[in-house]
Amino acid sequence: MAKLSIIVPTYNEVESLPFLADRIHACLCEFDYELIIVDDNSPDGTGALAEELSQEKPIKVVHREGKLGLASAVIDGFNHASGDVLGVIDADLQHPPEYIPELFRAIDGADIVIASRYVNGGGVEGWTFTREFISRGAKFAPQFLFAKIRSVKDPLSGFFLFRKKAIEGIELNPIGYKILLEILVRGNHSEVAEVPYVFKGRERGTSTFNATEQVNYLKHLWRLIRSEHETRRFLRFCLVGASGVIVNQGTYWLLTRPIGINDTVAPIIGIELSILSNFVLNDIWTFRDRRQAGSIPARALKFNLTCGAGAVLNYGVFLLLYKVFGVDDMLSYLIGIGVAMLFNYFFSKWWTWR
Ligand code: GDD
Ligand code: MN
Repeated sequence: MAKLSIIVPTYNEVESLPFLADRIHACLCEFDYELIIVDDNSPDGTGALAEELSQEKPIKVVHREGKLGLASAVIDGFNHASGDVLGVIDADLQHPPEYIPELFRAIDGADIVIASRYVNGGGVEGWTFTREFISRGAKFAPQFLFAKIRSVKDPLSGFFLFRKKAIEGIELNPIGYKILLEILVRGNHSEVAEVPYVFKGRERGTSTFNATEQVNYLKHLWRLIRSEHETRRFLRFCLVGASGVIVNQGTYWLLTRPIGINDTVAPIIGIELSILSNFVLNDIWTFRDRRQAGSIPARALKFNLTCGAGAVLNYGVFLLLYKVFGVDDMLSYLIGIGVAMLFNYFFSKWWTWR
């Protein structure tokens, strides 16, 4: 059976650590396992305590010089691990260690197994509405942006196991807390499994979750977006679309005000000009690596047709939601725009610039 290395990042966890070590040992003593405690020179003496515990249990201690951050502590832990399967768990017992055997069994059919708050049977205990709201909001962005993790329900979990080969040859470079997100986006994996668990309230010590971490999370997301080719492409497409709105409305204004062209003709020119400017920008920027697809006039024609169909779709979705289902008209319109934009993107990608 594969060897399991569990990484435990610690910062001021002197009260929880003995319980954690006992509970992990109780459920893993049948397995070939090691605990790797990565301590950032905790002022409360967690590091020294970890050394003591390592006298009687299969524990390695990694001491770092100061508080260098959770995600980087976990990566240091990976580098000291000798197992074929690596795992991460918090020291404060908010992740009940008794789930580890189940996670370990699930790795048989998967490359990554996540202890998940957001699958059936999972949840959180004692969170304020605000924290739950932030947490759910925070996971939406990566699910939307990174196609390969769209089906993952808890990409921000801090409790998971994975096969070492999932990160081999990959330079992990996360900021802040969310190491799993980095592995999901940048790692080599095909199967991701999720096992439900309940994130417990903290009994001892204090959390370091704060506003800085939320800013770090945004920075981390931004870095991931920039490193992912297809996500960057999608964002470029959105930006070009936004610029088209300005061209469209600007043209309308110019034509109807200073130039004085009739206001039923002006929109047609505005729409067509914005489609053309979007085409040019997408051609030289968003899809510049795919310009071998057909001739320029052929691409321009396909893009025009796509945008035309997109506009019909926009209108159709609006009518359906608003007139048939009675959804608020502004909301229906916005959803229509969103649907049309996704439609345009996928047709651009799979047809125009194929
Ligand atoms: N070495 C090291 N260095 N460890 C750290 C540091 C650090 O700078 N900051 C935090 N830790 C350790 C803590 O001692 C604890 O074991 C674990 O990392 C998680 O820290 P908490 O402060 O308890 O975080 P949390 O409970 O707010 O967040 C947890 O839940 C999130 C889900 O909402 C973590 O598990 C996150 O990874 C998870 O995303
Ligand atoms: Mn915690």
